[in-house]
Amino acid sequence: MSEITLTTYHDVQRAFRRKSLKQALYDEGGVIMRDVLLTLHGDAHRSRRRLENRLFRRETFHLYDSELIPRLIAEEVEPAAANGRADCLGIGHRATLHLTALIAGVDRPAGTAAETERLYHFDLTFSEGATLVHATGNRDAVRQRVATALAAFDEEFLQPSIARRRSLLREVRTGTIDEASLSKDVLTVLLAHESDLADDPDTAAAIIRREIAFFLQAGSHSSANAFTHAMDDLLTWFEEHPQDRRRCLDDPLFMQRCVHESLRLHPASPVAWRVATEDMVLREGLAVAQGTRVIMDLMAANRDPDVFGPDAAEFNPHRPEPEGVPRWGHSFGGGMHVCIGMELDGGTTPDRGAADRAHHVIGVVPQLVGAMLAHGARRDPDHPPGWDDTSARPNFATYPIVFDQ
Ligand code: HEM
Repeated sequence: MSEITLTTYHDVQRAFRRKSLKQALYDEGGVIMRDVLLTLHGDAHRSRRRLENRLFRRETFHLYDSELIPRLIAEEVEPAAANGRADCLGIGHRATLHLTALIAGVDRPAGTAAETERLYHFDLTFSEGATLVHATGNRDAVRQRVATALAAFDEEFLQPSIARRRSLLREVRTGTIDEASLSKDVLTVLLAHESDLADDPDTAAAIIRREIAFFLQAGSHSSANAFTHAMDDLLTWFEEHPQDRRRCLDDPLFMQRCVHESLRLHPASPVAWRVATEDMVLREGLAVAQGTRVIMDLMAANRDPDVFGPDAAEFNPHRPEPEGVPRWGHSFGGGMHVCIGMELDGGTTPDRGAADRAHHVIGVVPQLVGAMLAHGARRDPDHPPGWDDTSARPNFATYPIVFDQ
């Protein structure tokens, strides 16, 4: 297959907006990713996205942001701080897992630590499956492990969650309860529109299984990595700029800006891939033939000096926001597949949403970093962070932290 690589901010932006460039990064990870929102194209994508978009409204995010998220974060960070040490990856995954399980529609009836650990195990395994294209080890072995985990997840979590929702949907149909009593989650929406997913029930059931597994990991994996990179960038930045540590705690908008700067430097995947479904001209002098793989180098585009300045490769939260360009660059994607959880995790900014706290969303990642800093988090001097060598994605595998308060 012929390939071209786009490395400037504006070329990547043009490519994200082209409807005839089709998602191509997740074919290797089909065990989780086949026919999920991120891999659908055209009308199929549009109708699934329309169904699920209703769960991702700003009013809902605001409600989560002001009540649920601070509580979920406190439940993870406070015991860790009391214990004096923690690992950023574990905190990030667990704090966001509760939220993504809620949004996906995965019930946890026991509410025990053992149950959370079981779900955490599934979440990590599904993430390995989704990112198989970047796996450095034996891909068939990963595929096998993911398939086994998917079957166990189905039996332990998904089927009971489906049974509860089907019974509620039946009660709505018979008029025993009204629609407002239904859970507002992806699983409920998909079950209510099951016959639109596929002609035969087994195919529809398999699509639902993968979509829920995908959502579970899409939310928590990207968030945990973004959070860990933000902690790393900030703890390094504070060494030279100690006054900004206080500012982060006093000014949530500054905290948010720091996270956006870190997100720019560390996109969840360093590349996005698309395949051209027809011949096209992306811009003058840049023709793309049908069947070409278009590699969008997000890492390079997010460090484009023509857009972000000569020090674009450095972390600098005081960088002025480039005209018409979000501070996080392309890290939440763009065009039809733009991240559905963008405002939930990254928050709204005064120029892209309401400035007053009553309507403003701070975002999961800024809130989580804020909670860690409030407890005096610093790098564990005896246990340095380690990189994840099972993936070509530049992420940490461990990031030990100690707390001063
Ligand atoms: C810091 C955290 C996050 C980052 C960096 C991130 C990044 C991204 C990116 C880059 C894409 C587009 C990929 C592409 O075009 O190939 C995407 C899509 C998506 N993200 Fe996120 N994401 C984050 C958090 C979340 C959360 C919290 C959720 C859900 C609760 C979520 C759900 C999704 C979904 C469902 C899509 C597919 C959208 C579609 O295809 O229409 N993400 N994300």
